[in-house]
Amino acid sequence: MKTVDTVAQLRAELAVRRAAGQRIAFVPTMGNLHQGHLQLMARARAVADFIVSSVFVNPLQFGPGEDFERYPRTLAQDQQKLTQAGVDLLFAPCEAELYPHGRQGLTSIRVPRASEGLESAFRPGHFEGVATVVNILLNLVQPDVALFGQKDYQQLAVIRQMVADLHLPIEIIGVATVRAADGLALSSRNQYLTAEQRARAPRLHQALTHIASQLQAGQRDFAGLCEAQHEHLRGQGFSVQYIAIRRPDLALPQADDDAYVVLAAAGLGSTRLIDNVQVCVQANIEALDKCR
Ligand code: PAF
Repeated sequence: MKTVDTVAQLRAELAVRRAAGQRIAFVPTMGNLHQGHLQLMARARAVADFIVSSVFVNPLQFGPGEDFERYPRTLAQDQQKLTQAGVDLLFAPCEAELYPHGRQGLTSIRVPRASEGLESAFRPGHFEGVATVVNILLNLVQPDVALFGQKDYQQLAVIRQMVADLHLPIEIIGVATVRAADGLALSSRNQYLTAEQRARAPRLHQALTHIASQLQAGQRDFAGLCEAQHEHLRGQGFSVQYIAIRRPDLALPQADDDAYVVLAAAGLGSTRLIDNVQVCVQANIEALDKCR
């Protein structure tokens, strides 16, 4: 795998591939790669000829007081993992390469509908930062297909809307969340947890799967279901930011919907965890398709 850190090198490498008619897949990351990222790379390998990944801890998407400074930066290990995963090209720019005129006054992408509520209520400006850097990276790489994890469910919705609204000719693939054996969704931030917090952390996923099973059993008191798990998690020492039931497109749910997504964010000590589960309540092919 080759690593480049300038826009000029990246463009030169990709021009050769494009001229050869290769199908290009792109997986943007912030590094500190785990099995969840590697699943994205594996899927990319299955759908394209040439795989490009990026490692860039994007300051635009961190709010004041968030973990930008302490976010783990592990480029050498990431390069090894990407090589083993069969990635062809890594773009690992510094901030000045990506934002040469600085962050102030930078063109910014706002994606209104998909960004509303949920994460945005607790991380104002976060999705503007994500959409802006992803848009820049997609413009630089110009892939045929780009892959993102479903663990960041709302982020995926924001990116899908941005790509559709801006008519970017790129297929977006969402890849299922990879979990530890006890159900905890893999995340680079899990390493901030103490051993005791790590043992408690899977309860977030358990709360979501409990709501999912209630929905499958026909329960439709959306607010009551969320409130009960909110209280339960609070009792387990989580500082719950939200638990919400939405339609798969994040619109408010209706009782006769055949698919839902249950999403949550909660703090455990100084670590913020997010997770979601998708629920199909009717075993028909159309409903299953919506859940994929
Ligand atoms: O999901 C992430 O790792 C980041 O939000 C992304 C998409 C790489 C943008 O910085």
